[in-house]
Amino acid sequence: MPIFKVDLLSGPKLESIGDYEREARMKLSPDVREYIFGATESGETLSRNVQAFSKFLIRRRVLQNIDKVKTHVSYFGGQIQSELPFFPSSINVTPLYPNALLDVLGLSRSFKVPILISSLAVSGTIDLRELPKLVPKTSPLIWQIYFHPENYDQVMKQALSASDWGYRGVVVTVDTERSVKLGYSIPKSIFTHDFHNCTPSDIRKVRKATSLPLLVKGVMTPEDAEVALESGADGVGVSNHGGRTMDSGEASIEALPKIVEHLRKKKSTRNAEIFFDSGIRKGTDIIKALALGARGCLIGRPYFWALAVDRKNGMKTVTTILREELVRTAALCGVSDLSKVDPKTVTAA
Ligand SMILES: Cc1cc2nc3c(=O)[nH]c(=O)nc-3n(C[C@H](O)[C@H](O)[C@H](O)COP(=O)(O)O)c2cc1C
Repeated sequence: MPIFKVDLLSGPKLESIGDYEREARMKLSPDVREYIFGATESGETLSRNVQAFSKFLIRRRVLQNIDKVKTHVSYFGGQIQSELPFFPSSINVTPLYPNALLDVLGLSRSFKVPILISSLAVSGTIDLRELPKLVPKTSPLIWQIYFHPENYDQVMKQALSASDWGYRGVVVTVDTERSVKLGYSIPKSIFTHDFHNCTPSDIRKVRKATSLPLLVKGVMTPEDAEVALESGADGVGVSNHGGRTMDSGEASIEALPKIVEHLRKKKSTRNAEIFFDSGIRKGTDIIKALALGARGCLIGRPYFWALAVDRKNGMKTVTTILREELVRTAALCGVSDLSKVDPKTVTAA
């Protein structure tokens, strides 16, 4: 009879993002758990974000020269470099624990990737002007702006200085214009303001204030992507905010190919950088988004789970898991350079 040894000291198995999700769910206090896991109203958009990746299948290739898979990608004409085609999205991590943003920045010690800085996470003793000094130049910080009625003028002023402070790009998140009925609650300590309803004129003002690469995040239709670019943005972030703003919407991965097709058709928008987020949980999700036209993927909830489970090493381990899954899949579908994934890498299910 075989004897199975049970090692009670070795802790939980943490080999996939799903493992981190399960572990974080157990560890977090109820209100923070609701804040991170929650989505708007019925949560339909959030589930659809994750499930809709299965509408696209990866085409297995063999007899390919895939000894090495290049993972480096360069954005905005070389102004931003990344050793991976995915990196941390702008996420307000402060409700997890004070100064959690500093542990997000810790990723720069292990990976040369850009990091988006949520303006909501810049609180307490953290000074927006000082953050770029805390990371090596190989991890460009991209400042994400939320406009609120009470901070509007101040943010416009800060945009004038962002480049001098060392930021390498600016993101304006435009999809939180309405206080919707949320299916989750935000602890009162974190959230007190209303959002400003962004219009093209706001994007034009930010464009005037800074010459840094400018991205408009929260675009879900071809027509809005075009307006964002016409207003001066250099790129768009195809995102439905992880299903946190409107219920019963398209999954972000369903919207992506339509936006890509529209922008690539026109000369004036052909070269725009297209980023993607919402629902990424696996390396295969990333390769599908790249094949459908995204040049970079932003990671949200998986990094919350990483920090919830392991403050010190979670960001690094979750990035390593996604990288390994991505590189392995790339090799198996004949992709040797992740900056040039062929659309033929995927097929409709
Ligand atoms: C708890 C939480 C906080 C977030 N905070 C911000 C934020 O401060 N700024 C922002 O632009 N997006 C924010 N987002 C949206 C993320 O940047 C990203 O679009 C989203 O997490 C992607 O969905 P996924 O996490 O399900 O993949 C937040 C998302 C979550 C789950």
